[in-house]
Amino acid sequence: MKLISKPSMNLNGKIRIPGDKSISHRALICASISEGISKIANLQESEDVMNTLNSLRQLGINIYKESDCYFVEGKGFKGLQKSDSQLYFGNSGTGLRLMSGLLSSQDFSSSLSGDESLSKRPMKRILDPLVEMGANISGSQMDTLPINIIPTKKIKGINYEMQIASAQVKSAILFAGLGADGKTKITEKSVSRDHTERMFEYFGANISYSKTETTLEKTKNFNAQNIQIPGDFSSSAFYIVASLISKNSEITLKDVGLNPSRIALLNKLVEMGANIKVFNNSLFGKEPVADMKVKSSPLIACEVTSEDVPNLIDELPILFIASSFAEGTSSFDNIQELKHKESDRLKAMQEGLNKMKIKNFFSGNKFCIEGRGQDFKTPHFLAETYYDHRIAMSFAIAGLNSSSSIEISSPESINTSFPEFIDLGKKLGCNFERV
Ligand code: S3P
Repeated sequence: MKLISKPSMNLNGKIRIPGDKSISHRALICASISEGISKIANLQESEDVMNTLNSLRQLGINIYKESDCYFVEGKGFKGLQKSDSQLYFGNSGTGLRLMSGLLSSQDFSSSLSGDESLSKRPMKRILDPLVEMGANISGSQMDTLPINIIPTKKIKGINYEMQIASAQVKSAILFAGLGADGKTKITEKSVSRDHTERMFEYFGANISYSKTETTLEKTKNFNAQNIQIPGDFSSSAFYIVASLISKNSEITLKDVGLNPSRIALLNKLVEMGANIKVFNNSLFGKEPVADMKVKSSPLIACEVTSEDVPNLIDELPILFIASSFAEGTSSFDNIQELKHKESDRLKAMQEGLNKMKIKNFFSGNKFCIEGRGQDFKTPHFLAETYYDHRIAMSFAIAGLNSSSSIEISSPESINTSFPEFIDLGKKLGCNFERV
């Protein structure tokens, strides 16, 4: 299949965005190790999250769906059972890394694998701290998949100073920390997303956290909870930019997760001149949510500093697209981590920007994009997406401002995080076509 994205204007309408991916993984895992039945509303029904759900089923957890909600029969910290076969996490670094932490402290062995893209991604970043905690965990010779875990007598809490800004690494340590003797303390140089901390707190963990320091003390058990998952801000980002760059548009997004560790894109876009209103603020559990109204706006270039990067790491591809339609040269400092995502996103975006006739280059450590303003129309081309959902969705949005169309290769990757993307986009007026 291919996706064709054609010129679109007058985007309009009000939609609810499906559940947040990061929070969905955490909700399923925490519910599985809690005591009692948890109910989860607005779980993201993407391939990534369903792989985590299936792996929990393989570990003996009963999970079922009834009237749009998922029910998870938790079995407590020690209730998981050995899986007869390897656990498969598809494209999802989050599912695999979080579950590696959790399974490190179980008294049975496990083996974890993933698809071609995940099999190339670096795992040393989780193996090092987990081994320091006493886990008997290893990867392949290159520290990639499969991950094999052999039961160990004792996992101990550690003081860990994070070398890279990564919520997946931090969370793997925290999940292992639930089964550890003593306290687990993590210090970060930059702020990474704190959904695990908030979810642990909601389930009753003995945890304290600030922007760059997290301490988990011995926790006896988790109690089952009702969880309402906020709309995924990272999924919303594509429609936010779509509405900004398409003339005469005004869209409303309902119940979007606005966790402060996730919304640097929003602040950046407002600095760029975006007309975005946030209203109806509330809390889903420990997570802030609100509605957003976004209107077409002329944009000016942005400056992204290295401190901004962890907070908008998943939104960099779509921010590159917004910058292409802004006036002036945008700069992005220290974005090397982009090379280690579902694809080498830096390479994939540079290739696509070149085809869009958008000048991009490095100046020292800064990646720069020369914007061509709101009236620019991209030429027709085929975007190679390297089976990466966010690359596919970013060029699909760019196509709304094309002279005739942009074709998107392997758009099936979009199902890993946002299976509803094409249909919800069409509902708003995006001229998308499956061929
Ligand atoms: C995620 C953390 C981020 C992000 C990913 C989801 C999470 O990865 O890119 O999409 O849910 O913890 P890193 O922790 O590797 O930066």
